[in-house]
Amino acid sequence: MLSRLAKGVARNSTIIAERASGVWVYDTHGKSYLDMTSGIGALSTGHSHPKVVSRVREQVGKIVHAQQNCVASHLPQQDFFKKMAPIVPDHLDTYFFTNSGSDAVENAIKLARKATGRPNIITCLGGFHGRTLGCMALSTSRTSCRKGYQPLMPGVFHVDFPYEVGELRQPDWPQRLDILLEKATAPEETAAILVEPILGEGGVHRADTEAMQYLREVCDKHGMLWISDEVQTGVGRTGNWWGYEHFGVEPDVIAFGKGIASGFPLAGIISEKRHFDTIHTNGLGGTWNGNAVATEAANATLDILKESRLVDQCQTKGQLVVDALMNRDNMHILTIRQYGLMIAIELDMDMDTFHTFMQEAPNVGLLLLSTGMGPTIRLLPPLTITPHEIQEFTKRLYRLLGRIYGATAKGTAFMPI
Ligand SMILES: Cc1ncc(COP(=O)(O)O)c(C=O)c1O
Repeated sequence: MLSRLAKGVARNSTIIAERASGVWVYDTHGKSYLDMTSGIGALSTGHSHPKVVSRVREQVGKIVHAQQNCVASHLPQQDFFKKMAPIVPDHLDTYFFTNSGSDAVENAIKLARKATGRPNIITCLGGFHGRTLGCMALSTSRTSCRKGYQPLMPGVFHVDFPYEVGELRQPDWPQRLDILLEKATAPEETAAILVEPILGEGGVHRADTEAMQYLREVCDKHGMLWISDEVQTGVGRTGNWWGYEHFGVEPDVIAFGKGIASGFPLAGIISEKRHFDTIHTNGLGGTWNGNAVATEAANATLDILKESRLVDQCQTKGQLVVDALMNRDNMHILTIRQYGLMIAIELDMDMDTFHTFMQEAPNVGLLLLSTGMGPTIRLLPPLTITPHEIQEFTKRLYRLLGRIYGATAKGTAFMPI
């Protein structure tokens, strides 16, 4: 029945999943797969964490859908505010909930336009912000997402991403931003600058600290809002609660999603009350926004992350992945970029070989993601992954490389699993 699924989705496997637990997914034949994707970073506490499951079960019995136009709020949402307060800046005290990251970004744009009374948005080349018509205009990580859907939302201007290191680094990034504001979109017409602190789809590249501090200055100087797209980097993934914390400056708007609710669809934006107050009644809305069950899943997720100190361990676990790979013969690995448990492994192979590599991954029991940047795999495992599972990943990765390169692979023999 796979033929009934729309072909437009890039599928990395033909697996029909039956159940999943932690970092493991099981198909209908009982075969197990080590899931290094956690549903593109959504399952921060792994598949079906027992505490999430039990809190969700309990919530389903109480109230599932407390629709926001009909009831003002619900108990899980009131708890959520309390749990979030210690991990977001004090001045970001007002929330709007959505069901997806794209929806959150769309609403961040609506907020920025109303709060500033200006139309234009600046964002970075190589960024990914979602798949709605508005978000596609903002996303430039791969043309395959945009191709055939033009014209997209107008008023979007792109500046290069302020890469921190490597060939792509531009020490003159501040001047590039100035030039854009001087020649393409005047500050008085520019509502916001939207940036991922670490590009996800764009290949796991961190933004440069000084550039982000400059961006903060520019936004303050011209009354523009800095929207930090934390949909992928947020909720502890990179070793801090939020990606912007790496830069020592705070944004005006946080867009969150993915890992907040361990696989349940909850997302949203957080900003200052004075910005939200510029939006008239009925200027925001949505049927499912802030769903009670998804919110309780978020509460359970935040409790687990805090109680088990998983955010603190994120960097150490990420380093374990790097060490495990570095300790082996890694002639097919060009570079590893690691920020907590957001990791890119750039492989030394052409794109045809890389496609075969990705197709073969499930055959060695491995679920992997690619990026929009050449032969690069992206690892977004659950924050609950254990050192043993990290070793298991390494074995499977080398087994996969062994399948591709066989006896021609130089150096140490690939370790069988
Ligand atoms: C940084 C970023 N922003 C926004 C989105 C869109 O989120 P969603 O797929 O939940 O709409 C994604 C999804 O991958 C993302 O990585």
